[in-house]
Amino acid sequence: MSHCCRHHNCIEELKADHEIILAELVKLEADPAGYAKEFLKFTANFAEPHHHKEEEVLFPALERKGIPNQGGPIGVMLMEHETKRGYVKELAAGKIEAAANIISLLREHIAKENDILYPLAQQVLSEEELAAMADRCEAIGKG
Ligand SMILES: [Fe+2]
Ligand SMILES: [Fe+2]
Repeated sequence: MSHCCRHHNCIEELKADHEIILAELVKLEADPAGYAKEFLKFTANFAEPHHHKEEEVLFPALERKGIPNQGGPIGVMLMEHETKRGYVKELAAGKIEAAANIISLLREHIAKENDILYPLAQQVLSEEELAAMADRCEAIGKG
């Protein structure tokens, strides 16, 4: 059983993912050139699945509750995922300076999700909905 499966609330699982992502950013920041390859593996195996949990499970659930996508917080989060993917491609192509962009973007992105979007989700989604979403997130986490 991986760490993800202890969570029976989607938001708790996503928050736990954030802590793991933030710890990786500290390692990338300490040695961007030396850690880039490891970080790219982490991105593919963990950070991307995390973004997919949001894009495929959380954001659609929030939209169904009337939280706007276009011009709203979900649209901003989706745009930031795409910007990050662009920076990751640059890093994969050997542009080490992209590491600093990934680090600052993700730190701000995670802070916004933790402080604004996730509390909103916990307000509008019931425990049952969050539990059902956790099962779907778990499946994405397993790839
Ligand atoms: Fe996100
Ligand atoms: Fe996130």
